[in-house]
Amino acid sequence: MNKPLHVVILAAGAGTRMQSNKLKVLHQLAGLAMVDHVLQLAQSLKPVQITMVFGHQGEQLIQHHQDQNVNWAEQKQQLGTGHAVQQAVKFFNEDEDVLVLYGDAPLVQNKDLANLQGQQFVLTANLAEPTGYGRIIRSGKYIDAIVEQKDANPKQLAIQEINSGIIQAPAKKLKLWLNQLSNNNQQQEYYLTDVIGLAAKDGSPFIAVQLDDADAVKGANDMAQLAELEDIMQQRRRHEQMKKGVHLIHPQSVDIRGLLTCGKDVVVDKGVIFEGNNQLGNDVHIGAYSVIKNCKLASGTVIEPHSMLDQVVTTGACQIGPFARLRPGTKVADGCKIGNFVEIKKTQLGSNSKASHLSYLGDAIIGKDVNIGAGTITCNYDGVNKFTTEIKDGAFIGSDSQLVAPVVIGTNATIGAGSTITKDAPDEQLTLSRSRQRSVEHWQKPRKK
Ligand code: UD1
Ligand code: CA
Repeated sequence: MNKPLHVVILAAGAGTRMQSNKLKVLHQLAGLAMVDHVLQLAQSLKPVQITMVFGHQGEQLIQHHQDQNVNWAEQKQQLGTGHAVQQAVKFFNEDEDVLVLYGDAPLVQNKDLANLQGQQFVLTANLAEPTGYGRIIRSGKYIDAIVEQKDANPKQLAIQEINSGIIQAPAKKLKLWLNQLSNNNQQQEYYLTDVIGLAAKDGSPFIAVQLDDADAVKGANDMAQLAELEDIMQQRRRHEQMKKGVHLIHPQSVDIRGLLTCGKDVVVDKGVIFEGNNQLGNDVHIGAYSVIKNCKLASGTVIEPHSMLDQVVTTGACQIGPFARLRPGTKVADGCKIGNFVEIKKTQLGSNSKASHLSYLGDAIIGKDVNIGAGTITCNYDGVNKFTTEIKDGAFIGSDSQLVAPVVIGTNATIGAGSTITKDAPDEQLTLSRSRQRSVEHWQKPRKK
């Protein structure tokens, strides 16, 4: 039986090198704040409690995590990583194991930690370029000490095995070692890494758990490193999709910022961005340079290039784009065709309806087999309130018509091109509002003066 787990997340650092007003750990990685990746990892380990150590701009962090069930430990002055963990000690229970994670190291995964319950370890990695990291001093599997870059001698600097920062130890012992820390070092900080040396002296040393994937321990201290983490994260996600059979035609250009679930034979072209939670059925094709956000696209949906879809649901095979903009609340049925330069918002289209060119459809309920002519606009807004347009099955809307809501276009009704419709149009009839066409005889073309 494993001991209950207590995860401590360090996020009190100022993050000066980000050169930003935003707290470092709140910067986005793959569509989610860095610290939230760490929090999700923590939660995936099923701990009994999570304590977040906050300091610099802590109000931003607390605000961001309003709905989360975490303990808040304030570190008023950032006196080092050991000092940071000391602030969490008040939440420790004697029977727990404490796992320390870093808010700015979001690439560690559940699989890296899942089999380490009950162990006293430091997560390490071998880096070709270890500069800046703490070095692991050991001969066997037990660690004698960790030496920080700034305190290391040349021989120690040559060591390539580095401290990820992630450690785990029993609460009771960790508390004892934390109490013995001093700031007698180059940076005059209370180093968490000194706990490892103290433990060894105590005859209770930490083991080194070395990760094969050295990328996993990387942290972001500035924007360049954040971009590097983004790259690694995206590579992982694309790889995962391709392993599941998704055809990414030009993988390195596709970004997955959130959750993506795909059926069989999904094809994604160059430059596509997925944001939020997207679900794609079988045989969905996403055209080049499209942005797909929180959508549920049924099997056979084809999105042509340069389209933007936000909270769109398709319920059958249909064709959308190129250059379509579908906003929240758009619902498209099987057989529909939405063409170029069509904007749709909070509107549903029934089976086989078409809006092939240049339209705005907002707050509309559109039936089956409806044809929306080029340039049709639903005038849904009077400057204060929004109103609904209803277009019944089989209706044909002539080009360049304005449908002034609230208005109902009847079943199989036809609207003559260029009409401004302010009253309901009856079923089966032709309704039009233009003045009659006339020609002026003997009319003189203007001449150049
Ligand atoms: C630390 C480790 C180093 C390791 C590296 C891995 C120590 C002394 N050094 O160095 O061995 O190789 O991480 O990335 O532990 N923080 C606080 N309060 C503080 C100081 C830091 O909460 O007073 C937080 C930061 O917000 C950050 C984390 O602790 O999330 C690491 O701090 P940082 O200053 O970046 O440590 P490093 O110098 O990178
Ligand atoms: Ca760091």
